[in-house]
Amino acid sequence: MSRNILVLTGSPRKGGNSDLLADAFIKGAKAAGNRVDKYETGLKRIVGCKACDRCYSQGEACVFGDDFNALAPLMEQSDTLVLVTPMYWFTFPTPLKAALDKMYALLVGGRRSNIHESLLLACAETTEEADFEGLVKTYELIGAYQKWTDLAKLLVPGVLKVGDILHTDALLKAERIGQSLK
Ligand SMILES: Cc1cc2nc3c(=O)[nH]c(=O)nc-3n(C[C@H](O)[C@H](O)[C@H](O)COP(=O)(O)O)c2cc1C
Repeated sequence: MSRNILVLTGSPRKGGNSDLLADAFIKGAKAAGNRVDKYETGLKRIVGCKACDRCYSQGEACVFGDDFNALAPLMEQSDTLVLVTPMYWFTFPTPLKAALDKMYALLVGGRRSNIHESLLLACAETTEEADFEGLVKTYELIGAYQKWTDLAKLLVPGVLKVGDILHTDALLKAERIGQSLK
């Protein structure tokens, strides 16, 4: 069964560690016959949710008219959500968190999303896997609330500068995870 997969990335660094991780995952997922959309929140303008509860009242998801309005239809159509991100201050970078916050619009607007499963691929400078605890817990709690099945988590410690991830086996692992989505 092929899937519609939405890869949401969190870094503003094109060609950075998590961007390479996302592309490796996408290579595997496409080879397995899936359809993949990559949406780079770190390169978009997504403002934080204002809790105005006017979602979809003027047609589009957010009345403030930012780039979330292009993302919302992808969230409705996709089967699988993949978060690929660097860790910032023990959690998600602001633009990715803003995109996750704005999933609220789909609830307020009574929109049905097909997303029913998720994956987390994350990297950071720290060499301690335990330092990912807050990021992973947030991912797990969001997933439990949304009734998503967690398919995989890949945590990549010890990468700081652009390209550091090339000296690990993480890209191979990410590609294999993508390939496993058959
Ligand atoms: C604003 C900011 C906050 C960060 N916070 C953390 C952190 O809490 N823990 C950590 O280990 N690394 C932290 N880092 C390092 C990044 O996670 C690391 O450089 C990562 O490889 C960047 O991924 P990218 O190349 O995909 O942007 C931070 C980096 C930035 C720019």
